[in-house]
Amino acid sequence: MVEPQASVERLERLTGMLRRRGIILPAFEIHGGAKGLYDFGPVGGRLRSKVQSVWRDHWLSQGDVVEISCPTVTPFAVLEASGHVAEFSDFMTVCTACDEASRADTLLEAHHANPDALSLSDLQALLDDVQPPCPACGEASWSPVAAENLMFDTVIGAGSSGRAAFLRPETAQGMFTTYPAIYRHFRERLPFGAMQLGRGYRNEISPRQGMIRLREFNMAELEYFIDPETEAPHDLSPWASTEVQLVPAEGDAFAASIPTALAQGVILHPTVAWFMARTHDLMLALGVDAEKLRFRQHARDEMAHYALDCWDVELHGSYGWIECVGIAHRGCYDLEAHEKATGQRLRAWRNYPEPKVVEINGWTIDGAKAGPAFRALAGQVKSKVEALGPEASFPLTVVLDGGEEVLVEEEHVKRVQRTETVAGEWFIPHVVEPAFGIDRIIWHLLDHAYEESGSGEEMYVRMRLHPDVAPVDAAVLPLFEKEGMDTMASEVHRRLCGTRGVLASYDGSGSIGRRYARADEIGVPCCLTVDHTSLEDGTVTWRDRDTGEQTRMSVDDAVRRLAAP
Ligand code: ATP
Ligand code: GLY
Repeated sequence: MVEPQASVERLERLTGMLRRRGIILPAFEIHGGAKGLYDFGPVGGRLRSKVQSVWRDHWLSQGDVVEISCPTVTPFAVLEASGHVAEFSDFMTVCTACDEASRADTLLEAHHANPDALSLSDLQALLDDVQPPCPACGEASWSPVAAENLMFDTVIGAGSSGRAAFLRPETAQGMFTTYPAIYRHFRERLPFGAMQLGRGYRNEISPRQGMIRLREFNMAELEYFIDPETEAPHDLSPWASTEVQLVPAEGDAFAASIPTALAQGVILHPTVAWFMARTHDLMLALGVDAEKLRFRQHARDEMAHYALDCWDVELHGSYGWIECVGIAHRGCYDLEAHEKATGQRLRAWRNYPEPKVVEINGWTIDGAKAGPAFRALAGQVKSKVEALGPEASFPLTVVLDGGEEVLVEEEHVKRVQRTETVAGEWFIPHVVEPAFGIDRIIWHLLDHAYEESGSGEEMYVRMRLHPDVAPVDAAVLPLFEKEGMDTMASEVHRRLCGTRGVLASYDGSGSIGRRYARADEIGVPCCLTVDHTSLEDGTVTWRDRDTGEQTRMSVDDAVRRLAAP
């Protein structure tokens, strides 16, 4: 996307400031850096942890969600079962002049409405037709487009006993593999959710847009397990008069409330609508500008391999509209896939409204013979045999879900013929997932909050971050570092830092105006100044970042105000 010059310059000033002030900076710079890897520096570290806290508290307040934490190193078998080994790839092409790799769809963004949704052959045809210039060297000569898996691979263990593994590309799989523990925790009653905050890794082909496309990044995902027949009784009426911008998969963008879009059938699923509404509130609570937020529905051919309906939350900033959250209905895809791969039951129990009398006329296995014969596969053999009709005859070759063939002999099975009263059934829960990219959200919070006034040498920068995410809560400034003002300011600073949830900075160097400016630049919501009057009556002046207004108050009141929940 070609930016007007003014916004390119603003972007350069913003990234320069973030780097200079220790908010976000390229990682490993003293060794020449590494593309797609960033540090949150001495100021940015707390910004990140405050955003994560707001996220955590928002979802835990729902009451039916727990937080878990799983390893980032993940065995091959887990990501093979989830479909990531086969499907988690982007289409790559390499410049034959300079060897720079690019995503083929990114090169073609100006020539197609949604190149992300094109097949390999369609992308190849468009690339041949357009011959876009290489972003690195300007030549237009490309290798054939090929699918490139984005996972970083590694090995668990040393030598020949080492097992293939990956660094996780999403945290979600941990919530699926831990499902039995979560189901027990919730006393086997749906709906419930599990979430985790943690690192995700993707060996992105061409990470060119700062914090937008990282190779290691901070994810925050929630998997909400529901019974597709009874759904979650979520009340959407509080959002009835909140209009949001919606870009449906078909038709024009429009503004409507989330309940209205659900009633119109544009949003396909009530639990997806619920998470859209809650996510909207969370974004505003973090300080996102509501005018720069929209929901975009994925086209059918654009959705991830597991998704049934998917809405992205896109935020608008210096890089245009960028996906920051994906809210996907994953159906029963993941639990079913892990169940097939492991033979473990990843289900929930549902009672029928009335018990049912059913006639059982078929076969089951004889545990005493089949157990030793089939060992770990006995459970799978049992379900296959029980699915056979009374006419089946043995020996019989049975194909298991993983593709193995087993020979079931007559001695392994027993005939069953009886009526049974059945109270309910096991089923695979469906999952709705909001998946948040914390780094992209932080980037947009900074981009939306960054305000310049004046120009040239006179330019003044104020970062209007929401106090809940501001990296420093207060700056303590002695008017002069003498006559006891420095001692009193140090005491106030220590007292604030010792107050739960508060982080203050102490700044005694340079003119007071310069120090206000330094605090405003990184978004400190207030400055507490210790002056001559402070020494006499124990007060400080509280200067508000956004209005510049100054109020004199006791140190006790200032501490109380900052410590307020
Ligand atoms: P994109 O199409 O931009 O590559 P995606 O559709 O692959 O993103 P998801 O797989 O839905 O993204 O990941 C969930 C969230 O994680 C995204 O909404 C985004 O905020 C974040 N995310 C994904 N890839 C990256 C990355 N390389 N760097 C930083 N954040 C990312
Ligand atoms: N868990 C969602 C994603 O990474 O795509």
